[in-house]
Amino acid sequence: MPRKPFIAGNWKMNKTIAEGVALANELKGLVAGIDDVDIAVCPTFVALAKVGEVIEHSNIMLGGQNTFWKESGAWTSQISPQMLADAGCSWVIVGHSETRGRFGTVDDELEGVLSYFGDNDTTVNMKAKYAFASGLLPIIACGELLSEREAGKTDEIIAAQMNVCLDGFTKEQAMKMVIAYEPVWAIGTGQVCDSDEADRVCGLIRGIVKEMYGEDVAEAVRIQYGGSVNDKNAAELLSKPNIDGALVGGAALKADAFATIIKSAK
Ligand code: 13P
Repeated sequence: MPRKPFIAGNWKMNKTIAEGVALANELKGLVAGIDDVDIAVCPTFVALAKVGEVIEHSNIMLGGQNTFWKESGAWTSQISPQMLADAGCSWVIVGHSETRGRFGTVDDELEGVLSYFGDNDTTVNMKAKYAFASGLLPIIACGELLSEREAGKTDEIIAAQMNVCLDGFTKEQAMKMVIAYEPVWAIGTGQVCDSDEADRVCGLIRGIVKEMYGEDVAEAVRIQYGGSVNDKNAAELLSKPNIDGALVGGAALKADAFATIIKSAK
């Protein structure tokens, strides 16, 4: 069975609640009636409920940008999958390079170089498992740094991330999860990964899924590419056999550009 393309917009730390509602309303009009592409938007936590109201009963699904592996309790600042589901989410991104601390560091006089956030492959795996247990579906992100690519270590890094992040799911879960290949150097830089190379790495990921869960799961699992996807380059990327969708940042903040990306997946 062909895999249904899945285009998700990661709004990151952008849009006020009112702006998010306006964007969602505009997008809803532009993509109404499209049923051969799965569509999701992932607003900030504070905008989820209001944006969720706008897209309820539409063909746009709601996702969170991160979560935690506990339901509730003394975990200041964290948001559980149950809370995301309560706000209307059906998806959650886990392991984005921006939450793994693979993207940004801050130089601290006392402590040296610190990661902004501290996800690692093990916590990403825990978050994805707990998301499933709470009725959400995870988009599990992976990707190499520029230094790792230049050192010829891309495949090794992706394999190491996937072997831990994808460990221990049921076959049924593994079929439903989505994996996002997001080379860190391509995120927000305008430097999109060459489509053949993105397809090659997505194929590598599919091969790892096959080793872990078998051919049927590898054929069913959807793998997105993310990193400077826009309305001009999306069609080329999405024409590749191993690229089943896109996780879009900047271009998801404009309804017309995001709608064009969605339509180019059809
Ligand atoms: P850009 O599309 O802005 O490069 O961001 C990609 C991304 O990180 C999506 O999660």
